[in-house]
Amino acid sequence: MPLPLEAVLTQLGAQREPAIERWKEFLRIPSIGTDPARNADTYRAAEWLVENLRSIGFDAALHETAGQPMVVGHHPGPGNGGPRVLYYGHYDVQPVEPLELWLSPPFEPTLVTTERGLRLVARGAVDDKGQVSTWLEALRAWHDVQGGPPVPVSVFLEGEEESGSPSLVPFLEANREELSADICVVSDTGMWDIDTPAITTMLRGLVYVELTLHGPSRDLHSGMYGGAVPNPLNLLTRVLGQLHDAEGRVQIAGFYDDVREVEESRAWAALPFDEAEFLASAGIRTPFGEAGRSTLERVWSRPTCDINGIWGGYIGPGSKTVIPAEAAAKLSCRLVPDQDPTRILESLRAFLDARTPADCRWQVDVNAFSRAIRLPADSPYLQAARRALEAVFDRPPMMVGMGGSIPAVEAIKRLLGMDSLLIGFGLKDDLVHSPNEKFELRCFEAGMETHARLLAELAQLG
Ligand code: BES
Ligand code: MN
Ligand code: MN
Repeated sequence: MPLPLEAVLTQLGAQREPAIERWKEFLRIPSIGTDPARNADTYRAAEWLVENLRSIGFDAALHETAGQPMVVGHHPGPGNGGPRVLYYGHYDVQPVEPLELWLSPPFEPTLVTTERGLRLVARGAVDDKGQVSTWLEALRAWHDVQGGPPVPVSVFLEGEEESGSPSLVPFLEANREELSADICVVSDTGMWDIDTPAITTMLRGLVYVELTLHGPSRDLHSGMYGGAVPNPLNLLTRVLGQLHDAEGRVQIAGFYDDVREVEESRAWAALPFDEAEFLASAGIRTPFGEAGRSTLERVWSRPTCDINGIWGGYIGPGSKTVIPAEAAAKLSCRLVPDQDPTRILESLRAFLDARTPADCRWQVDVNAFSRAIRLPADSPYLQAARRALEAVFDRPPMMVGMGGSIPAVEAIKRLLGMDSLLIGFGLKDDLVHSPNEKFELRCFEAGMETHARLLAELAQLG
């Protein structure tokens, strides 16, 4: 039987307004997964997804975990075979601070007109509720036209992606059969630019720790004790100041032992990347980073070590002459293929231990821990995605790396043996994780159409 793709695309067009309404409804739920005060809302977002999936013919359920719940749904498709597709996404969003920089309230999705057309502004507009909505709406259009997708589909959504996915591995281990499929599809990455789609084949991993350097037994008067006792803030900054040399190389012993040259970087060198524009988007003029590397290598295939936050002592108004009892920092390393997070964490501990000041003690708490991922640059699934993207954008997708991390993609590969297709519709200026996060409607619509077409392409693989 021929596939009713044209009817599905017509249905998507006819459902444009209600699709935007459903996306807004999803965005109104303040599911900040890292904030325990928002647990009830985060739970509500999972319930919203279960309802949404049931309304398009899925057998869907919420699964409790030690943290935020998982959402799993299945649709048998037409029952004539074809590859089983697993869609992965996350319904948790980042915190909204600093609130005063938002031009409209973060959980009141607001349509704004710009020279590019309409965009929707809200926390999660793109990451990942908007992107999840692109495939949910494509599945809905297939449901409306022929009762369901043209291939068997499973859906798996978590609420802890932005917190490093702590419940993910045990959940995948316990539900291996139920979640197994032939290919995983993820929309949580970006396009090349607003006219040019991209397929991502490399993501960096992440080791994220919180460090505390404990020193004196209590906060001390800096006149009575200062100069005669260790100041944890002075010492912490001295140690962290040794993390990089003048060439921008990380000084943790063994840090680069497993880092290899990636062959993809040769193809990346041919991409029409505008370095000045990229740097300007961050308010920077001078290239920065590890010596002898291009900017694209620095963000896609070279490992990093960054201080993400640092605090201690007195930070209120005015002065307080104090030697703090402790100082702390959040520190993260982006990892590249073949680096082992366990080894990196051990090397980091050794780096700190070798620099422990007398009478001080390190405390290291691990927040996130994931390997980099490298996906095949070719496969029948990837060809199917290429065809779907090319039909929508009238040009082939760029094959790119991305410097961010999606721990689930690596865990799904390792535990379920499945590669992922990373087809995302975000733009560099979407303000992901920042105030005024947005998703262009053009990108949202192109995403829906791509997913509707991808399902037909996958069905044709037989
Ligand atoms: N969607 C992003 C990952 C991403 C960012 C992909 C930029 C491509 C480009 C994801 O939601 C994210 O923010 N991941 C975190 C993971 C962390 C909290 C474990 C990240 O990369 O910092
Ligand atoms: Mn995301
Ligand atoms: Mn994110």
